[in-house]
Formats: sequence, structure tokens, C-alpha cells
Amino acid sequence: MTSLDDQAKAILRGNDKGGYTLPTHGLYPYQWNWDSAFAAWGFSTFDNARAWDELDTLMASQWDDGMVPHIIFHQPDPGYFPGPDVWQTGQSPATSGITQPPVAASMARRIWDSDRDAGQTRIAALYPKLLKWHRWWHEARCTHGPAAITHPWESGRDNCPDWDIGMVNVDGSGAGEYTRRDTGHVNPEMRPTKEDYDRYIAIVKYGVSVGWNPEKIVAEGPFLMADPGITFILLRAHDDLAAIGRELGEDVSEIEGWANALRASLPLIWNDALGAYDARDLRTGAFANVLGSGAFLAYLAGAGNPQLDKQLMRAWDKVTYGIPSADPEAPIFNPRKYWRGPTWPVVNALIAIGLEDSGHHDLMERLRAETAALIRKHGFYEYFDPIDATPCGGADFTWTAAIWLTWAGQDPQPVTEKGAA
Ligand code: GLC
Repeated sequence: MTSLDDQAKAILRGNDKGGYTLPTHGLYPYQWNWDSAFAAWGFSTFDNARAWDELDTLMASQWDDGMVPHIIFHQPDPGYFPGPDVWQTGQSPATSGITQPPVAASMARRIWDSDRDAGQTRIAALYPKLLKWHRWWHEARCTHGPAAITHPWESGRDNCPDWDIGMVNVDGSGAGEYTRRDTGHVNPEMRPTKEDYDRYIAIVKYGVSVGWNPEKIVAEGPFLMADPGITFILLRAHDDLAAIGRELGEDVSEIEGWANALRASLPLIWNDALGAYDARDLRTGAFANVLGSGAFLAYLAGAGNPQLDKQLMRAWDKVTYGIPSADPEAPIFNPRKYWRGPTWPVVNALIAIGLEDSGHHDLMERLRAETAALIRKHGFYEYFDPIDATPCGGADFTWTAAIWLTWAGQDPQPVTEKGAA
């Protein structure tokens, strides 16, 4: 039997469309933003040049204002909805009109660190584009302090309960008639409901109706919420981008300013009643009042604290495999439903970086062992039931293969000085 390393490499090669990688065949037939950054990280373990190509292809579709779209529709595929005809962004190649978690700078730093010489010219070419994307985040989406999203799909944690209080205010009646494709690829019970989908499409139609004008969407659009997940990912990515810039001899004071402002805004997403970071509706100020995996990304940005540690252990100890995407003790918890309870290997990998960097080496190793157990049992699925390990969503998934090669499939490491508890 081929080793899991070889299987993971074969998945990356098999999903490679030449310069960009599909998340999985069928369900997700295009290039997705944060999936691509993870794919690049995975490729860097055995094909460094291909890793940089992936990031180049992603950033080549950056909009003039700096936004990097969440999907790039390189080739038409009738198996996916909503396609380019629904988004109508007028870009070439066609793209969606929203973005996704900005992990690219953090992944670029890791890829560069894995081979400094090979990456020198590649990172230098990428840097101005990453800088422009981060500036867009700061100017267009951090106007309220924490990072705001205008569609649940921007969060990457598409259907998580964090967005419920914002979604109830979205009028889905304007969605019109359409045929979903996702439910033809995977078990419909694991996917969002028709009511949710109508609202997702209604927000897209609003974007089209205002010509994807970013200020108008933030000021008047149907949905605007502060996302703790993106806030922490962006904060970490600002730090990583600044580190890259310093090594390249650039003046990084602008990036440091963005990072300082974002860090100063963290109290706005700390929900005292919940005892954790929480999503917040920026139209009403209301907290979502749900503990989710977005809160645990705080470790990635060095924003952990003893109260969050307690919440982490409480939620994690209720399940067997990995960190659940929603609180197992909350009424909304569903261990197989999209982002409403299951564990995502790729989110575990990000939280693990945070745990290690904030001195929780043993917890990082526990998370690695649990994530590896899921993949050893069932293969490279999109996500898993954290209680009984049932594999869910798409198979042969790019980011699961990538994080196996970079993290989950690695042997346990002795405590490093930085990671010492
Ligand atoms: C789903 C996920 C999103 C991911 C995409 C492709 O929409 O929620 O995070 O980027 O699939 O894998």
C-alpha cells in the first residue's frame, strides 16, 4: 500500500489544473482563495516552484482595488452553483465578488522559510500584491475595528452559527429560482438549508445590483458582521507580512500600523457574557453568543488568555477528534452539519500553529495526534464528525492532503524553546 505521504502528494497532483489546484473534484471545481494558499504550503514540501506558482495564480486575479476574490472561475463548469453568470463581476478570468481569509502571507512566509534561495525572487514579486491586499483589508474592511465580512462565505466557515443573527435580517425572497449543485455531490443533510441558500444568493444579487461597490456594500449591504476568525488570521498575516518585508529591506511601518490598530480593536469582539471572543453584528452591535472555532484562532495572533484556555478545554474535551467548529454543549451543535460542529483538519492546523507559538506545545501535539488519527482511519476528507470520526464532505481534499504533509503527518516534536509550556 502506498504511504499516506504518497497519497497526499498524489491528491495535490491529481487536483492540480496547471498553476492552480481544485479543492476537490466535483463539489468545488475552481480555484478557491484560502484553499490555494494551503495547497501552496503542501506543495512546498516536495515541489517548491509549484508552491510559488499557486500563489502567483491566486494573486494574478487580484482586483484593481486590492481585493483578492474567493473563487476564480478559470474554466466553465456546469457542476457548480453560483457560477460566473450569477456573480457578474466583469473580471477576466471571471471571479466571485467577495474575498476569503487572508492566510496567503502567512503561508508565503512558511514556504519561503522552507527554501530561502529558491524563494527569494518569488517572494519579492509577490510582496507588493500581498501588501495591496492587506491595505484593502485595512481600508475597506477594518473600518469598524475588527475585520468585517459582507457574506458568510467570506469567513471560510460558511455556515457556522456565528452568522445566524446576521442572516435572519437578510431577505431571501429576492433569490429567485435556481438549482443548487452542492446537494448533488454530497449528502444534503450535511449542507446548508434552502432558507440559508436563498439568503446567500440574495446577498450576491445585492452585490451585483451595486456593481460590487465595496463602500456601498459595507455601508448599506444586507449583511455585515465582525469575524473573529478573519480578525485573528489577518492579524497574524500582518505580522508575517511585516517580517517578510523587513527581510526584503522594505519599510514596514504601514503594516505595523494596521496590526496595531487591529490588535487594539480586539476588546470589541470579546464577549464577557460568553467568556470568549465572539462574532458581532455590526449593524446592531449584537453578539452572536456562540463559541466557535473562530475564537480559538486567537492563539494564532498571540491573543489567547486563561479564560479562552478554559473554554477550549471544555469544548475540546467533549469530543474525541480535533477541535469542533461549534460548541458541543450549545443547542445548535450538529457533529456532521457544515461548520455547525464538525472538525476541519485545516482549521486544526492553524490553531495548532497558534498553540505551539503561545507555549501550549502539549496541546498542539494532542491536536496533531487527533487530526492524524482521522486521516489514518478514513483518508483525506474535507471534514469529520469529531465524536465518531465519520468522514464528511468531499474526498481527496486538497487542504487536508496539504496539512498532512506539512503538519499532521509529521512525527511528534520535542518541546522547542519557543513552544515550551
Ligand atoms: C467551502 C468552505 C470554504 C472552502 C470551500 C472550498 O465553501 O466552507 O471554506 O474554501 O468550501 O474548499
